[in-house]
Parts: sequence; C-alpha cells; structure tokens
Amino acid sequence: MTAPFASQQFIARHVREIPRSGIREFFDIVQTMPDVISLGVGEPDFVTPWHIREAAIYALERGKTTYTSNLGLLKLREAVSAYVARKFGIRYDPKTQILVAVGVSEALDIALRAVVNPGDEVLYHEPCYVSYSPSITLTHGVAVPVSCTADNGFALTADAIAKAITPRSKVLVLNFPTNPTGGTMTRAELEKIAALVVRHNLLLITDEIYSELTFEGEHVSIASLPGMAERTIFLHGFSKAYAMTGFRIGYACGPVDLIEAMMRIHQYSMLCASIISQEAAIEALLSGEPDTIAMREQYQLRRNLIVKAFNAMGLTCHLPRGSFYAFPCIRSTGLTSKEFAVRLLKEEKVACVPGGAFGPSGEGFLRCCFATALDQIEAATERMARFVARLQRG
Ligand SMILES: Cc1ncc(COP(=O)(O)O)c(C=O)c1O
Repeated sequence: MTAPFASQQFIARHVREIPRSGIREFFDIVQTMPDVISLGVGEPDFVTPWHIREAAIYALERGKTTYTSNLGLLKLREAVSAYVARKFGIRYDPKTQILVAVGVSEALDIALRAVVNPGDEVLYHEPCYVSYSPSITLTHGVAVPVSCTADNGFALTADAIAKAITPRSKVLVLNFPTNPTGGTMTRAELEKIAALVVRHNLLLITDEIYSELTFEGEHVSIASLPGMAERTIFLHGFSKAYAMTGFRIGYACGPVDLIEAMMRIHQYSMLCASIISQEAAIEALLSGEPDTIAMREQYQLRRNLIVKAFNAMGLTCHLPRGSFYAFPCIRSTGLTSKEFAVRLLKEEKVACVPGGAFGPSGEGFLRCCFATALDQIEAATERMARFVARLQRG
C-alpha cells in the first residue's frame, strides 16, 4: 500500500522556517470583531488623491491594458529620475539605473535575490519591518539583526553595526524613517555608517519608503553621501507618501549591473508592474506633492496627539520623527507586548501590533499607527487610558 500524500513534506525547509507575519495573524482576528478601532495595519487612512485615481481610470479608458517594458514605462522612470535627483540629490539614468517594481516589497525581494549567495550574512537594524528577516531567509542568506534598544531611542550606531560584522557579511539593509519606531538619522550619523560600509566593503540596500513623512529635520538619504551611490540599492515607492498601497507600485535605483541583475529576476517572475499603476504613479510624481504635504501635516497633528496621550496615561513614548507609527513602552504594566495587545483588543476593542512582531528588540513596546482619523485616535487613546488605569489598580 502506498503512503497517503502528505503535502507538508513537500514544503521547502527554508519556507517551513519562516513564520506567518505576526501582524497579519493578529489582524485576521481583528477582522472578525465588530466596533474595533484599529491602530494596526500600517497604511494611510486617506484614499489615494483623486487626480491620481483619475490617471488610472484614464489609462483604462485609453485602453492601456498591456505589459510594459520589464524596467517599467520610460516616462515613469524619467519622472522617478527627476524626483530622486530633486528630493534626494542622487542622479540615476532612467534608461539603465531604475527598475519599476510591484511595491518596495518586490524591489526588496529581487534586490536580495540578486546579490545574496547561500550563507551570506545580511545585516539589518531591529526592531524592523516584518519582511526583512523572512526575505533574507528566502534567499538562503543568514539574517543578522543589529538590535537597537529603547534606552537611546532605538538609535542605530556604526559601532553597533561594526560589532555584528563578520567575514561573511555582505549586505546592510537600512530603513529610515523606521517602521516601527519612527526613528530618523542625521547626516553625521549616516556618514559614520557610510565609512563603515566602505571599510568592510558591504553593499547597502536602503528602504526609504517613509522619507516624505519626516516631521523634524531634513531627510538625508545615505545613497546621496560621497561614494555611496555606487554601492547602494535605493528603494522607494508610492504606498505611504501618496496613499497608494493598493496600487502595488515602487522602484529600485542603483548601479547599472545590479539593476540589470534585478531586472533579470523581475522579468521571469513578475514581468512588469501593472501599467495602470504605472500611469497613476507618473501622475503622483508630477503633481502629487501638495497631497503628500497635506497628509504629512495631518499625520503630524495626529502624532502629537497620540504621543501626548500615551505619556499622560503612563506609557512612556518617544516622539517619532518620521513614519506614521508611535511606539510606546508598555513594560510598566508587567505584561508582554502580545498579552497587552490581546487583552486591549478583548477588553477595549483597540487593535495595536505587539512590538515583539518586529523582532525581539521590539518586545515591551506596542506599535500604534497614527494614519488614523483624529477622532478615532482620541477614542482609542481614551479606551487605552482606561485599560492601563485598570491594570495599574491591579
Ligand atoms: C519599511 C517598509 N518597507 C516596505 C514596505 C512595503 O511597501 P510596498 O507597499 O511598497 O510594498 C512597508 C510597508 O509597510 C514598510 O513599512
């Protein structure tokens, strides 16, 4: 008799190793509950600005329903090139140094796949976006988190990175402003990291998806520092700055041969990003800046309110200088971040993401997305204050 088919045994070992996203798991539960205020999933509550949606509709009306060049529409790459030069001070040739991808998610995936050999070490700072570690594992690389701690506001230092470097280190992934901590970096701090990267001959992947949502100080891209553009893959997208998460569109810029290597993976796996989204992205880059500024101003008001509310209820919260996440400390309650989040959801119907979902160094914190309407933030923080007061009373 033949053994029954066991589908489990066919799953590749390294895929078995990666966990389901802590965020998604949690929000599958949230979806089933009525009247929950969600400060959970990291996406703007704004709908994509109308003129950008209209550009997508107009593309459809004109019958733009085909594949595009694997690199993306040249008009979009030219717009990206002009935008990146103006905003970040980095020059990329639209013909050879820019690849349009299905979000920063795809751009990150193909960047890693293009450069990582099995066993290569890829460093990244933690707490961090939930995709980094699994994306590295999927390339058969070794994920090496550089833990940042709350004592110094989760600052990333060149010294901390240096301690994690070994002869197998190949790539350093950076994300500023940071999801989930809202951390940003000054030019001087980035210069130290740039020098380290050169000293150890590392390749940089910099995910700057939240750069337009910088509230204090200027956003400096590490790729703009002397000697960095030639060893950096710069990732950016439209999801956060233009509230375009559902369009699934982003891009990578970098040295010609690295973009060419990424393009080879992209052309066989994805072929190209949706032409409709590409048309919308052109409109976003050409005319979307006032919308981004208006949304950022709203996020800043909300940030100020939520941070004040957390500190007032006894949850110490640093001021996030960028992104749309607050990261209050919940250690004083004696609960783990998961226990806190689960009980808060059950008892007060407020959904936040346990800090542990962003790596062990996020434990003791809660990620609260303030891309949520002001009245919802007010109601959520009132409920949370009630919950915390109850915990303190024992
Ligand atoms: C740091 C970071 N990078 C990338 C992404 C994914 O971006 P995209 O929607 O462009 O795939 C996110 C989404 O939350 C993020 O926080």
